Amino acid sequence: MDGRDLVRLIKVVGSVGTAQGLRTVRAALRRRRADAEGLPPRGAERARVPGPVQDVQPGPGGGVIRFSRSELSICVTVHGAVFWGWDGAAPEPSYALAGRCPEPDPRAVLEPDKDGGWRVVAERVTVVISRHGAVEVQTPGGVTLRRDLPPRWWEPVAGGPARWMQRSEVAADARFFGLGGRASGPRLRDGTYRLWNTDPGRAFGPGVDPLYITMPVQLVVADAATHLVFHDSAWDGTVTLREGEEGAGSGHDRAGTSELRMDGGPLRCWVVVGTPARVLLVWASLTGAAALPPAWALGHHHARWGFGSEQEVRRIVSGYLERDLPLDAVHLDIDHYDEHQVFTVDHERFPKLPQLAEDLRRDGIRLVSIVDPAVGAAPGNAVYDSGVAEDAFVRDASGRLVRGVAWTGESVYPDFTHARVRDWWGGHYEERLAQGFSGFWHDMNEPTAFAAFGESTLPRSARHSLEGRGGDHREAHNVYGLCMARAAYEGVRQLLPEERPFVFSRSGWAGMQRYGGTWSGDVATGWPGLRASLSLVMGLGLCGVPYSGPDVGGFDGSPSPELFLRWFQLAAYLPLFRTHASLPAGRREPWEFGPVVLEHARVALLERRRLLPYLVTLAHLARRTGAPYVRPTWWSAPEDRALRDCEDAFLLGDCLLVAPVLDPGADRRAVQLPRGRWYDTATERAYEGPGRVLLDAPLSRIPVLARAGAVLPVRGDDGGLELEVWAPAPGRTGGGLVVPDAGDGWDEPEIERYVTRRRGRQVVVERELDDAVTASPYPVRVRGLGERRSQT
Ligand code: GLC
Repeated sequence: MDGRDLVRLIKVVGSVGTAQGLRTVRAALRRRRADAEGLPPRGAERARVPGPVQDVQPGPGGGVIRFSRSELSICVTVHGAVFWGWDGAAPEPSYALAGRCPEPDPRAVLEPDKDGGWRVVAERVTVVISRHGAVEVQTPGGVTLRRDLPPRWWEPVAGGPARWMQRSEVAADARFFGLGGRASGPRLRDGTYRLWNTDPGRAFGPGVDPLYITMPVQLVVADAATHLVFHDSAWDGTVTLREGEEGAGSGHDRAGTSELRMDGGPLRCWVVVGTPARVLLVWASLTGAAALPPAWALGHHHARWGFGSEQEVRRIVSGYLERDLPLDAVHLDIDHYDEHQVFTVDHERFPKLPQLAEDLRRDGIRLVSIVDPAVGAAPGNAVYDSGVAEDAFVRDASGRLVRGVAWTGESVYPDFTHARVRDWWGGHYEERLAQGFSGFWHDMNEPTAFAAFGESTLPRSARHSLEGRGGDHREAHNVYGLCMARAAYEGVRQLLPEERPFVFSRSGWAGMQRYGGTWSGDVATGWPGLRASLSLVMGLGLCGVPYSGPDVGGFDGSPSPELFLRWFQLAAYLPLFRTHASLPAGRREPWEFGPVVLEHARVALLERRRLLPYLVTLAHLARRTGAPYVRPTWWSAPEDRALRDCEDAFLLGDCLLVAPVLDPGADRRAVQLPRGRWYDTATERAYEGPGRVLLDAPLSRIPVLARAGAVLPVRGDDGGLELEVWAPAPGRTGGGLVVPDAGDGWDEPEIERYVTRRRGRQVVVERELDDAVTASPYPVRVRGLGERRSQT
């Protein structure tokens, strides 16, 4: 234990109490001992590179290239994604991929290239393999997007997993995004990012990394094209990024670099090239469609750690109802459990939970339950007893149950990498549904096991099934939350087949969108935390996880009225709109911040409710196309370099550009516009992009702009669907998509297409059918015809 460990130890004991503090000391010692016994030191290692090419064996979509000390299989699939794997690594098994691996493109063949190398030419991408094993991905026009140098392995002489390193070069103008949920993005600056899901153990701001969801997924945006690269290994690792530099006409550009170092796992990789929209579409087809949240989950949620009692929940709900403030869900945290034990209820403080749920439901409010994976290790605890009978918990190399410390004290952890255990766990949601809960909030599933020093998770030597293949926590750690989300999603689908499950999870990995979304975790109260909130949502969206949002007001402190309001105004435009705070933090009810904040928060809440049909449409589009609801402003113009560097605004779908206020004291802010005409939705004034404009941002609102020609489905005053149409610029047309959805269930509503054009001073809106055009079946409201224009 070093000095830092000691300080941490003192803090832990101070914050969790002496008994729990002592447990965390014992747990840390136990963890260290388990790893010393279960994971022998690596010892001497042998380094290896592929060596020179020997021969090739063409195969579907590419083939196998043999080098003297390794081999590379390469395959271009029908939708243009490129897969390659070294040392015989195949696409499967994989926790990221959904269903069957896509078919190889029969037209893509291996052919000899210059200097003894080989290449595969496909419709959307060319891959060139040098005779020493460098792999270059090019656009069909021959521009290099990335060059992966020959990898290097370090193999323990005594056997065991090889560490590996892959260094890549990208264009000098390229920008990096992704790597899961990062607080310091969305543009990832030079530095080293770890790939190990981590509960930071305290409220975090932009400097803290890694966090709960890490993924070896990078989105690289450059003038020539956008590409996504995914190294499909769930092991611990790091990515070191360095942006390139252009030689300002000297011709001496310095390439950007990315260096990936992994502690193990297969060296295999997917690359998808194209526009951002195409890249995300192919990514979703590889890793699975995003679960569609029920419409109520796109409304406003209020959560708190420490409601403490049914009366308090009723008091908060009445506060909303009396003030006519929209509220769609209330979340109960661990304090409603009996002694913090998952799948139980503290009947003293919550004596009639089903009744409470029913009453809330009558007012259109759903109840959501936190679900932690740790199970108190106490015989007599029903979940523990049934898990022991089912052999559901993680064991160590000698077959003993692995214990960790959680809110439940000494606890054990289900092995969600086993299908039988997922079934067993999924069955427990029956108890939650019987209590009246409609949705599930997965927490502490990195997994977190409090430790006074060392890492706060399970020992790396802990054994996991890994779908029967067998392995340890080094491989299972990063997919633990993903597998838990799968257990819940599949369990709830079986228990309540007619409804869409609502699951969101603090931890996860590539592919987690199949089961639900996530939230920011314990983001720190403060202006930097507000900025981190946006970074997380955007970065996750670009990794294929479209549904997320922050704790409005931050998790840990007491936000100033201004900070709370600005957070509220931002989150009103994010997929998950939820206020939440920790036990000792200040209040988060909008009326606790005075009448001015209350009135402005009301405007944000009503606007959220009005936009619900648009959000539901975006949820459907995310599921069908992989496009996140919240997109960086470069989404449809990645060649616009000013947009690539814009981190303080976002597109909500195709129609809206949202420019939140992220700094104190601001009443105006600069907004970088993509090309085309944009209307300030508050003033209807028109601005022409590309360019930078200064817009009013009084405390009452944040700037939101609508794209000229946009068609947005909104909720009319009578609750029915209406189309809000923004006048196309003269000589231009516009349009939009509407997915009318009943709000729940599995119907597949048709996507309706609308087109807009100008006829004289009028705007015409029509629905496009396969072979005809008809009038809009919904009332239409045209905006932006006032023609007040400002030059940028
Ligand atoms: C974790 C969660 C937080 C929750 C708390 C108590 O810190 O991130 O949202 O309130 O645990 O369950």
